[in-house]
Amino acid sequence: MNDCANLKAPAVLSTIRTEVASTDFTMPSDDLTGSLLRTLVASKPRGSLLELGTGAGVSTAWLVDGMDSESRLITVENDWHIQAIAKRHLGADPRVTFVLDEGESFIESHRQARFDLIFADTWPGKFYLVDEVLGMLRGGGLYIVDDLSPVDSWSEQHAHQVVQLVNYLEDRSDLLITKLSWSTGLLIATKVRL
Ligand SMILES: C[S@@+](CC[C@H](N)C(=O)[O-])C[C@H]1O[C@@H](n2cnc3c(N)ncnc32)[C@H](O)[C@@H]1O
Repeated sequence: MNDCANLKAPAVLSTIRTEVASTDFTMPSDDLTGSLLRTLVASKPRGSLLELGTGAGVSTAWLVDGMDSESRLITVENDWHIQAIAKRHLGADPRVTFVLDEGESFIESHRQARFDLIFADTWPGKFYLVDEVLGMLRGGGLYIVDDLSPVDSWSEQHAHQVVQLVNYLEDRSDLLITKLSWSTGLLIATKVRL
């Protein structure tokens, strides 16, 4: 099996990537992660979805590609300039709400909201405010984080943060977890209905 073959990436992705190449943004999710996100999103018909860290919209494009007509996605980013790329290419889709805000304040002000899938791709909701974000996940909902496999650019402190995050998630009794040493290193957690 070749896991990189026949990914059938959303058409909009190449135009987003072209625009990203003219910026100094270096953090887009890779295609394997995008493909997995799309597959998981498609398992949540009429889903209420949250992405923390829009970036330029690479992962957003994959999420959108898995959504049915009644699903809704909120995607949060604090950098206007980079999110503008995502909005240019995906902003016409009425199912998507682009929020320009600090993830911290979005989380704090949406603690009563409930989501079926949360892709946490920035600091808040991944390395802090994790309890708060998991509190926003419905029973049966999915929490997904990427970039967990070590790379040379990591500081010792960041490596420690990742270990702490994984340990913390593993220790929670309300999550069933799978770790994937694949793509950039992923963890998928399903919130168990207690
Ligand atoms: C790993 S990148 C997201 C990549 C994006 N999901 C993709 O696949 O292209 C993390 C993003 O989080 C944004 N960010 C950093 N700190 C943030 C914060 N406190 N609140 C909201 N967004 C933040 C960065 O500007 C960056 O675009």
